[in-house]
Amino acid sequence: MKKKIVVFSGAGISAESGIQTFRDNGGLWENHNIEEVATFEAWTKNKELVLNFYNQRRKQIMNSFPNDAHKMIAELEKTFEVQVITQNIDDLHERAGSSNVLHLHGEIMKARSTLNPQKIYPLFNWELRVGDKCEYGSQLRPHIVWFGEAVPEMDRACKLTETADFFITIGTSLNVYPAANLIHVAKREITKFLIDPGDIKVSHINNLTVIKSKAVDGMKIISQKLTELN
Ligand code: OAD
Repeated sequence: MKKKIVVFSGAGISAESGIQTFRDNGGLWENHNIEEVATFEAWTKNKELVLNFYNQRRKQIMNSFPNDAHKMIAELEKTFEVQVITQNIDDLHERAGSSNVLHLHGEIMKARSTLNPQKIYPLFNWELRVGDKCEYGSQLRPHIVWFGEAVPEMDRACKLTETADFFITIGTSLNVYPAANLIHVAKREITKFLIDPGDIKVSHINNLTVIKSKAVDGMKIISQKLTELN
């Protein structure tokens, strides 16, 4: 039976694809106010502003491509069972070929009904506008988990992480909860890696190797190590 790797990714993995992160210098939250674009209150106050913010994200993502880090993760499936758990709303893991991708914070290429959260629709165009409605006539919103909202996929993410044989954290500042808790959910005895060029504060994590590099370089090192460990 193949051993199972859980890859927990954040905005940093898509940085080398040209997609801005949130909290780095020049990151998205430097020029946009979270309260104005990424909360339910913001949506209630100014739908157009919120839709425009995500339309710009969607446009950028549609014009971007998976990088070698996404591709190396997909390639691990040749040898391992691989579960990606991403905080990213982009679809670059899927486009790189990963088969099992769980999005904790939603997906930019989908919209959902404001009346019934179970009604989710794929988007093929970059633009979602005021007046775009679901089949029941309610305004469509981006299929994104906003600040202050519940993270419905968190339970599933925890269950998947509990059964991992290896755990890789890549390109996340580990600032946003509950997602950042996943590294603590992985079993104590398993081998864990953290890839990030920044100084990430992690403490009390057993068996953790920190690789202080960008995603592509870091994944090259890890792919080699995992092959040796398998
Ligand atoms: P952050 O912007 O908080 O962190 C990005 C991380 O990527 C930082 O630790 C950087 O050092 C690292 N990084 C930068 N360039 C990199 C590269 N080339 N390779 C690898 N790592 C690199 O983004 P997240 O941790 O993903 O949520 O943020 C978590 C959540 O906060 C997001 O999902 C989003 C945001 O607000 C919502 O919008 C709900």
